[in-house]
Amino acid sequence: MAVELLKVDYRTALSSKPNISTSSNIYMTGDGHLFCENLCVKEIQYELAMKTDYASPFYLYSRAQIVDNVQQYKRSLEKNDVPHLLGYTVSANYNLEILRILQKLGCSAVVASINEIKIAMMAGFNPNMMVYNGNGKQLNELEFAVKCGVMINVDSLFDLEHIRKVCRMLHKKANVLMRLHPEIDSDSSQDITETKFGLHHKEFDKALQIVKEEDLVDLIGLHCHLETTLDDVQLFKESLDTMLFWVDKVREMGFDIRYLNMGEGIGLNYKRHIPQSDEILPETKDFISSIAEGIKSKNICLILEPGISIVGNTGILVTKVVGVKTNENKNFIVIDGSMAEVIRPSLYGAYHHIQLIEPTMVGYINQGSHSPNGSARLQTIGQWSWSKALLWWSLILSAEDYYMPYPHEGCGLAIRDVGAYCGSMSSNYSLRQRPAEVLVEGSRWRIIRHAEVFDDIVKPFIGLPSLGVYKDYIDTTEVHLGTLHPWLTWMH
Ligand SMILES: Cc1ncc(COP(=O)(O)O)c(C=O)c1O
Repeated sequence: MAVELLKVDYRTALSSKPNISTSSNIYMTGDGHLFCENLCVKEIQYELAMKTDYASPFYLYSRAQIVDNVQQYKRSLEKNDVPHLLGYTVSANYNLEILRILQKLGCSAVVASINEIKIAMMAGFNPNMMVYNGNGKQLNELEFAVKCGVMINVDSLFDLEHIRKVCRMLHKKANVLMRLHPEIDSDSSQDITETKFGLHHKEFDKALQIVKEEDLVDLIGLHCHLETTLDDVQLFKESLDTMLFWVDKVREMGFDIRYLNMGEGIGLNYKRHIPQSDEILPETKDFISSIAEGIKSKNICLILEPGISIVGNTGILVTKVVGVKTNENKNFIVIDGSMAEVIRPSLYGAYHHIQLIEPTMVGYINQGSHSPNGSARLQTIGQWSWSKALLWWSLILSAEDYYMPYPHEGCGLAIRDVGAYCGSMSSNYSLRQRPAEVLVEGSRWRIIRHAEVFDDIVKPFIGLPSLGVYKDYIDTTEVHLGTLHPWLTWMH
């Protein structure tokens, strides 16, 4: 294919006014550009490349979308007069700036490690309002949590013993909630009787006896977590009813139960970008109104621990196309993103929608022929699946049976909904540097986490030789970087 056909001046293409037709803060305009709030994602990609050495891929987040997501919870909770702590699950995304935004919006923090306690405190969260989860909390972690006054979810009898031990050592009280084994009928594909979290009935009785006799451990609440993405209002309601039954029981035993932690947040419809998808999830307000009366009737404070529904749809991974290859009946778009940045599809088969962020002049994959003159502009982006087999340093995407505009080299491509469990689960696999994170606020963008550099990754190795070992080679290589950078060359 002639290289000239692949060259597109995206700024000329941008001259037509965007046709905004979506309620999301990350949206496709009528002329085929992906926007985040008021900014063209391609323009950010270009400007970031001009500013930094290691610019692609990068995570891009919308502040307005974070605010919207929190407001959806807050509005429903306030409208229904439900006393609450909206505890954001820090493991979903622990970027310091994102945590600061959530803290200012009135969230509390739900943590799963000592370092999450530390970063949440750095972001300004009050440790007394934090909830500490996990079935394997260690003594040093518990010590830190108790010193900071974090509320601790008791997960097992041994967990309770460890908490008592730490309290006695510190001569300090701990506020605890007890996490119950979710023995509730559910349609979830998981066998919840096999769960490794929470206290089983018999253990629960014993734990209550122990706490009754322990001055240094205050039982202030109960906790449950269905361990499935919440997409069923009825199931949530059933879970609440079971927990309210236990609240009564435990109160009757003389405990002052003030909090009911109903666990995770609401699922995200990752397939909503597919026009023909009929997958519909209930809205936040439906979940909240289903439990509002029950909560109020017990005069108790509701804790929720959402992660995905707060940050999932706020982020995209912005990548660029390295090339397109065809193997018999399959086309593959090779991008510079990989499973090191978005591991969910390979880890548990999660779906992430993929979109070109700009018009491509080349044509369509799977239509038999590629338009030679650029007349075939992209229309709807179809469904995509990630190739599980071919995850090497470049992620390779398989077009399978779907239509997709045939992208030019250097074309921007976004992986949607990577705000939760992507940056926080990213790795240095293949010794890749974790990418930069960028935040859009209206018409401005800024870096909120620098991309790692090679030195950051190798620093912990013992016996690191002098950096001169590779620097000699780098100096000569750098001279050619401009020409090796395909998307920089086509832009100029
Ligand atoms: C105990 C607990 N609470 C909350 C969450 C957050 O769930 P989600 O991100 O699905 O809202 C998790 C996720 O694993 C969890 O294990």
